[in-house]
Amino acid sequence: MLVNFNEMLMNAKKGKYAVPHLNINNLEWTKYILEKCNELQVPVILGVSEGAAKYMGGYDAVVGMVKGLMKDLNVTIPVCLHVDHGSTKEACIKAIDAGFTSVMIDASRHELEENIRITKEVVDYAHERGVSVEAEVGHIGGTEDNITSTSTNATLDDCLTLYKNTGIDSLAPALGSVHGFYKGEPNLDFETMAVINENLPIPLVLHGGTGIPDDKIKKAISCGISKININTELQSVWSKAVRKFLDENKEVYDPRKIIGSGEAAMKNRIAEIVTLFGTKL
Ligand code: 13P
Repeated sequence: MLVNFNEMLMNAKKGKYAVPHLNINNLEWTKYILEKCNELQVPVILGVSEGAAKYMGGYDAVVGMVKGLMKDLNVTIPVCLHVDHGSTKEACIKAIDAGFTSVMIDASRHELEENIRITKEVVDYAHERGVSVEAEVGHIGGTEDNITSTSTNATLDDCLTLYKNTGIDSLAPALGSVHGFYKGEPNLDFETMAVINENLPIPLVLHGGTGIPDDKIKKAISCGISKININTELQSVWSKAVRKFLDENKEVYDPRKIIGSGEAAMKNRIAEIVTLFGTKL
């Protein structure tokens, strides 16, 4: 079932586990994620960056592909199709009109007032159509979709102000995580995370899930994180397996064999992620 993230994340918040947000890049990745999560019977959020949507042809192509795969593979778990870091209201509207069930409007590069204005416009459009909305406060830096930026941490006041003035469904407060691989140990502000969670009724999101040690992932979940975004890690696991296969099979040219050589590694990692997050139906 293609759904927004409201029920799955509220269940996660209550049950103290996290739902994986896994970024997709093509048909094969989408198929592997859907197959594995359906086998494990856990909900999943398919994250689509603007760059990935463009790469796959556009939002309509992504919606058609996901719906087709869910039907053909008899996927019965709740699946949320979510825009990751939508940079403008227009991009979010385009995705919603195409059939996305959820969007993240990331106006975190603006001052809070402007972030609120843009986010509220997206919320108004999305909620009329049953689509869930995630926003970002502070700024989560690192490298995402080939864009590099520096981080600014969120404050409780800013989180409350954004929430009260927009009616968003989930919030990603920047608290030390970054996109891409970490240089050294990630330094997450768990104290502020727990305080934000106590003061906000909506689920919290942790971006930059790649490279955060297991104990810190568990601590983040205990501090109220209900959705964890993973992108780089699956790219890394898949490409390592494909590189090894190509090194060992220099005569192969069938793209199905080449792309598919990363399937097992990706599915194994997804199973580990789901176990670590404690994800349930
Ligand atoms: P990583 O690439 O660090 O896993 O982060 C993913 C993410 O936060 C997507 O929004």
